[in-house]
Amino acid sequence: MRQKSAIVVIAVVVAVLLAVLGAYGLLRSRRHHEPFADEGAAEHHEHIGPAAEREHAEELSPSGSIEDGVRVIKVAARQFEFDPDTIVVRQGERIRLEVTSEDVTHGIEIEGLNIDRTLEPGKTEAIPFTAGEPGRYHFHCSVYCGKGHGDMHGELIVLPQDQ
Ligand code: CUA
Repeated sequence: MRQKSAIVVIAVVVAVLLAVLGAYGLLRSRRHHEPFADEGAAEHHEHIGPAAEREHAEELSPSGSIEDGVRVIKVAARQFEFDPDTIVVRQGERIRLEVTSEDVTHGIEIEGLNIDRTLEPGKTEAIPFTAGEPGRYHFHCSVYCGKGHGDMHGELIVLPQDQ
């Protein structure tokens, strides 16, 4: 009786071991057949994303004009919009945004660039920076300015240098 149950236990252990080994082997062979080509590709350019978006970016031309080697872009802030609300620059360029509030106090925060300025009524705020990593950077009004405050936003597009 004892011997019999010992054999049953051994048989169960062997069966479990075989099942585990089998599953492991299957997993390994499956991994082996996965293509490696695109590994890590998704990690690049968290801002610019898919190729379709990049193709779209090719149609864009930089905003504003060059003054003494600096791309100067004038932007108006008013209830409840930025004008223009799409700003295009090229990687590596020195930029100066000149943002003027035409009515009440607004703010402009460019996400991912560590830029956040208060825009006093009637004043022009100069925001200098160098365009870095290509991609799309959302910006929004960062000072409550009325019921449409949440609608005040836009996009800064940094084109790759070689476009
Ligand atoms: Cu403009 Cu808040």
